Amino acid sequence: MAKTFDVIVLGGGPAGYVCAIRAAQLGLSTAVIEREKLGGVCVNVGCIPSKALLHSAYVAKLVKHDAKTLGVNVGDVKLDLGAAVRHSRKASEQNSKGVEFLLKKHKVTIVNGDGKLQTARKVKVGKDTYSASKGVVIATGTRVKGLAQIGLEINKTTVISSDEALFLQQAPQSLAIIGAGAVGCEFTDIFNAFDSKVTLIEVLPRILPLEDHESSEAITRSFEKRKIQVLAGAKVKGAEVTEAMVTLDVEAGGKAQKIEVEKVLMAVGRALNTESIGLEDAGVTLTDQGFVAVDQNLKTAADGIYAIGDIAGPPMLAHKGSREGVFVAEVLAGQKPRPIRYDNVPSVTYCHPEVASIGLTEEQCKKQKLDYVVGKFPLSANGRARVALETEGFVKIIRDKRYGEILGAHIVASHASELIHELTVARENEYTVEEVDLAIHAHPTLSEAVAEAVLDSLGRVIHM
Ligand code: NAI
Repeated sequence: MAKTFDVIVLGGGPAGYVCAIRAAQLGLSTAVIEREKLGGVCVNVGCIPSKALLHSAYVAKLVKHDAKTLGVNVGDVKLDLGAAVRHSRKASEQNSKGVEFLLKKHKVTIVNGDGKLQTARKVKVGKDTYSASKGVVIATGTRVKGLAQIGLEINKTTVISSDEALFLQQAPQSLAIIGAGAVGCEFTDIFNAFDSKVTLIEVLPRILPLEDHESSEAITRSFEKRKIQVLAGAKVKGAEVTEAMVTLDVEAGGKAQKIEVEKVLMAVGRALNTESIGLEDAGVTLTDQGFVAVDQNLKTAADGIYAIGDIAGPPMLAHKGSREGVFVAEVLAGQKPRPIRYDNVPSVTYCHPEVASIGLTEEQCKKQKLDYVVGKFPLSANGRARVALETEGFVKIIRDKRYGEILGAHIVASHASELIHELTVARENEYTVEEVDLAIHAHPTLSEAVAEAVLDSLGRVIHM
């Protein structure tokens, strides 16, 4: 096998494999080095299997609560997490195989093994050394982490991470989830639907703390309606872990309490895979936060070495990594790609209803002393949402008062993950709210709620 390529990509997740495909499209000979399954965390133990389980959770809620009203009597509902997990594994495997197929189709060489950077654009895998004439791209991603300092090291039985939660065959009777970012809120939704008694614990004053406060409040209300205990502004002071259960010492609202659960799921962020890949030997440096330091072309401190995806900095999202992959491939091919707009990366949490956003939150607008107007439209006033009994949520548009620029958009809705892209395209192309309104929105659709929120920001809402 040839050991010299134009481009070598270390890591076959959504950042790495997309980079390799784009490099190959541009005529560069390319290799991807991956030690596990192709597709990375996203495909194998992240985005894809979790969305499969969230879909099972959605169906469970639908048949338990809404089917009868919709004229479909299904009798006694029996939940089977094992079957849901089997479905999710199938989806992951299909996607991982799909990545392999795409790489082969583009004649990208796949090297299975642990890559270690050397000097002068070389990467060692076992006894073999591979060299890249144009560049090495590091895309090694992240892994789960616990909180060893308060006794919550992941033991894979009573203290678990998303890696284990995705394979459970039975829902625990009781589950505490620590951390209410995307991972925490998505697993809260899944295990609640599968009848676990869930307590969601977040140290910051509200769940989904990076989202607009109205989105956090809507999800808190929705979770509490489903009897999920939401403890925000809560500190886990310590934990007693046995083989059968965990007792957490939690301080919330000035009150100390003990929470006994069958399992604890850690969702407090992820650790960067920057160790043991030879960064230092190759002359690659890190930022104070531990990310790989890169310039505007995503080049590291070392000549010919680039970094993309989670290790290159926030937001740690698959789609941001993929875009960085395309960008670096084009740089390596001698092109001048348009700079990535990091302020226009959509964020989605796939609990039910979903939360999606783009741009600034209202709090950020206030902090930046921007002169803004908010337009809002509730899903309860949208025909398509009513027929589907999915009336929780809203569309919120924050526009610049003078010029109508869309500063931010926040959607809580059953299909928020799809609805957000109209506004992502609008912002990317600097369309004003007036220009979004000019486009006719089909009736009846959830997208009409976007159009109505836009109109509300202009003082011309029709259906409210
Ligand atoms: P995260 O950083 O988004 O959220 C972790 C949460 O845990 C934060 O709200 C934080 O304040 C809280 N926390 C930290 N220490 C705590 C403590 N001691 N007690 C209580 N709360 C504590 O990380 P998360 O949710 O684990 O996700 C990891 C990465 O994966 C993120 O970058 C996330 O955006 C990404 N991801 C994206 C998804 C999506 O786009 N739908 C789905 C899942 C993950």
